[in-house]
Amino acid sequence: MTQDDRTAARLDAYLLANRDRHAAQLCDWLRIPSVSSQSDHDGDTRRAAVFIADELRGLGLVVEVIPTEGHPLVYAETEQRADRRTLLFYGHYDVQPTDPLDQWLSPPFEPAIRDGVIYARGASDDKGQLYTHVKALEAWLATGEPLPVNVKFIIEGEEECGGPAVYRYVEQHPDRLACDAVVISDTSLYDEKTPAICYSLRGLSFMQIDVAGPRADLHSGSFGGVVQNPGNALAAIVAGLKDGDGRVLIPGFYDAVRELDAEERRAFASLGFTDEVLLRDTGSPAPHGERGYTTLERMWARPTCDVNGMWSGYQGEGAKTIIPAQAGAKVSMRLVPDQDPAEIARLFERHVMANAPEGVGVKVTYLHGASPVMVPRASSMMSAGVRAMTRGFGREPVFIREGGSIPIVGTFQACLKSPVLLLGYGLPNDNIHSPNEKFHLENFYNGIATTAALLGEAALA
Ligand code: BES
Ligand code: MN
Ligand code: MN
Repeated sequence: MTQDDRTAARLDAYLLANRDRHAAQLCDWLRIPSVSSQSDHDGDTRRAAVFIADELRGLGLVVEVIPTEGHPLVYAETEQRADRRTLLFYGHYDVQPTDPLDQWLSPPFEPAIRDGVIYARGASDDKGQLYTHVKALEAWLATGEPLPVNVKFIIEGEEECGGPAVYRYVEQHPDRLACDAVVISDTSLYDEKTPAICYSLRGLSFMQIDVAGPRADLHSGSFGGVVQNPGNALAAIVAGLKDGDGRVLIPGFYDAVRELDAEERRAFASLGFTDEVLLRDTGSPAPHGERGYTTLERMWARPTCDVNGMWSGYQGEGAKTIIPAQAGAKVSMRLVPDQDPAEIARLFERHVMANAPEGVGVKVTYLHGASPVMVPRASSMMSAGVRAMTRGFGREPVFIREGGSIPIVGTFQACLKSPVLLLGYGLPNDNIHSPNEKFHLENFYNGIATTAALLGEAALA
């Protein structure tokens, strides 16, 4: 048995013996309703930051809870020695809102474990995944194994609400955050049996359209047909965003899109994804999307334009005969390399204004954005990630892309110039942002084991 084998055995034994406590502590954190987009939860969001800060301090790290204009950042570091490599762990302690609340089988902030699965808002996105990093570090420190790398944490609370605090911090403190690799667990395995490392995330331009008509809702008999209806006008605008083949109609939208090459298409196809899985996971009656592309290609490598919310007029029970005074929609465009979020937002606004029917006022607002990212798959740190995941999950990971966005990744690449490892421990059907969000305990434990192994492997990379 080598020294490395003995270390691994001690870490494994420690993690096995502490499984139940680790799950219970995660549940304590999940009980704090850190919904970053709802200001009535600001106190809770802060408490969630303090919870993780206290835990890192308890492990002996030097920790700072950094006030910002929005939600606090947490920065923590172990002793930094010049003769060791440095890993920077990033995650977010904020969570999405819980609505529709009546669809949860157990309350979102009362974590419930059923059949080896934790159900709670934030279980997978991202408290549970981020917590694997903390518990892996705990294992090294508690077993008295000399830490083979320097560790830093930057943890934010505005990922889900598009807040700017963490970008500013990374832009202003590249020296403090300097590292040999950034490690993020905020993506998914490929499926229940197959671990995965993600090498590309889509970006985002998030828009709001506001349509204003008459001063107030009008009787639809008295005034129907003589003034423009904001609901109809909005419908026309939305209908003009895409054609029947699923192509986005905004001029210039595809100009910067990097087309998939034959090799990547083959690599996607070799994963053997079937639309049955899509229909099982979503409950949709049929797959749908841009003509000429497979489901994985559409999901991972093609840009989108989707209504996320839309409102106008009377929504209550029964009929109410009115011409609504207003209408509005929230629209997300998922972007792929090399689309630029601000440029796409401009093209969107120009297209919507050009297609706005007469007789209403139309306003377009760019709410927030994220750059699409690609991370190189060939680096010694990436190989360390592959070895760590193979150990933690007992199977070699596949390389995948993801359709979601993690806005800070582009900033890390630009400011720190270190490789970013996206080692996701969730499942594609963990119901993130949906009712009954869940995290499988097995993936939680394997994620901790992976992260623990990574601390050793990164030192050898
Ligand atoms: N963890 C997700 C990103 C994600 C989702 C990665 C699905 C892989 C698969 C992250 O917390 C998230 O939800 N990001 C937002 C960013 C937005 C609010 C700027 C997103 O993608 O909608
Ligand atoms: Mn997340
Ligand atoms: Mn999220």
